[in-house]
Amino acid sequence: MRFQGKVVVVTGAGAGIGKGIALGFGKEGASVVLAEANAESGKAAEHELRQLGIDARFMQTDVSDAEQVRQTMARAADQWSGIDAVINNAGIALWKGVKDLDSEEWDRVLGVDLKGVFLTAKYAAPFMKQSSVRSIVNISSVHAYATVPHYDAYAASKGGVVSLTRSMALTLKEDNIRVNGICPGFIDTEMYRRYVDSLEDPAAYERYVLSLHTVGRIGTPDDIARTCLFLCSEDAAFINGTMITIDGGLSIQLKH
Ligand SMILES: NC(=O)c1ccc[n+]([C@@H]2O[C@H](COP(=O)([O-])OP(=O)(O)OC[C@H]3O[C@@H](n4cnc5c(N)ncnc54)[C@H](O)[C@@H]3O)[C@@H](O)[C@H]2O)c1
Repeated sequence: MRFQGKVVVVTGAGAGIGKGIALGFGKEGASVVLAEANAESGKAAEHELRQLGIDARFMQTDVSDAEQVRQTMARAADQWSGIDAVINNAGIALWKGVKDLDSEEWDRVLGVDLKGVFLTAKYAAPFMKQSSVRSIVNISSVHAYATVPHYDAYAASKGGVVSLTRSMALTLKEDNIRVNGICPGFIDTEMYRRYVDSLEDPAAYERYVLSLHTVGRIGTPDDIARTCLFLCSEDAAFINGTMITIDGGLSIQLKH
């Protein structure tokens, strides 16, 4: 039980990667705050984790709303006398390029995927306990480095998360908080399924996606959870301001 008695806030924890991360910390003894915008999935995730004996608490939060984030961090800190770690996972994707995106859509994607990371860190940092954990982990994407057409707001926000991770690691060193990030590739979640199911031939696309991976499969939320646990553990005490790519070999290959 590496995180017994610790308090971990996971944003976007009602589904997919976030729920997997909350489960991972919960299994290691942590109390987990499910900071999720969707009440239905947030409550369902809380129920599911509690059934497993995990001290999970859903707190409805839209990470792009400063006041909601401030309240959630204050409530979490009040409940457990502080916060040990924050996993900035909440994110939305939008398949639109620079010519089709309107200004509100740009603001919405950047608001959740980038500003949400800033707000969560801003309001959590003052409550972070002087513990050996004291970590923030930001979920970016391989799209921060290499992307596809018509994904402009998403790619920009994920690139911003990489820069913000590094700059916050410098700023928050005065608080002894380590800040690292993860760049996932294809992870089998609701977000991924929504995209695959929107295609004309989902099976053909899935075969193609599989062929892009050297390890013979796409990722799971548990793959990301394990790395979050590592980054928040004593084993990662000397790791700060770093992004770890978790993509089953996707991004090391050139098309030929
Ligand atoms: N699935 C992938 O292949 C993949 C790859 C790279 C990066 N990522 C990133 O991982 C993170 C999680 O992705 P996922 O695939 O689990 O997505 P998902 O859509 O399956 O789940 C995202 C969760 O975040 C919640 N959410 C959305 N907007 C929110 C907001 N404003 N405030 C709080 N919660 C909000 C959703 O309700 C949902 O529960 C995202 O940041 C995503 O960009 C995913």
